[in-house]
Amino acid sequence: MKCVIVYTSVTGNTKELAENLYQSILSKEVDIQIYRIEQFSTTYLNEYDAIVIGTYTWGNGQVPQEMRRLYRAFEMFEKKDKITAVFGTGDSFYPHYCGAVDQFRDMLYVHSNLAATLKVELFPQQQDEKRCQKFVQSIFERAQKLV
Ligand SMILES: Cc1cc2nc3c(=O)[nH]c(=O)nc-3n(C[C@H](O)[C@H](O)[C@H](O)COP(=O)(O)O)c2cc1C
Repeated sequence: MKCVIVYTSVTGNTKELAENLYQSILSKEVDIQIYRIEQFSTTYLNEYDAIVIGTYTWGNGQVPQEMRRLYRAFEMFEKKDKITAVFGTGDSFYPHYCGAVDQFRDMLYVHSNLAATLKVELFPQQQDEKRCQKFVQSIFERAQKLV
């Protein structure tokens, strides 16, 4: 399985989560790459079997501007053969906690083979570790079902 993490982060919370997940997937000896969205072209999508998307939430539960072209790429081109997963950090102070994760989840459920979602409150903590492991495991199990 060839896997990629594509994420965005302004203050570093989602970056930390993305890097934790990267290490966790790497330890399963999966071919994994990690990109910030600014360095990732949607034309690369076809190279991967599994695409893991990471985003913070902006505005009133909005998908950040820089993630919208990735969102649209899935929305416009049916990618049912691609395993996907979406994770993000947010602040439960806001009414739409991790709203961008919800928006990606709903869209990816329709347009791809969505395996898992994960929401983390601000900076990842020790107590999030188990949920991170479960998230990675769900992606892995989905891939194994396809073999
Ligand atoms: C202007 C602004 C709006 C935000 N809106 C939301 C929101 O609607 N929902 C939410 O869960 N978090 C919201 N947040 C919190 C961020 O998503 C959260 O701090 C996140 O961890 C930032 O990720 P980053 O460190 O990777 O940039 C907002 C933060 C700011 C500054």
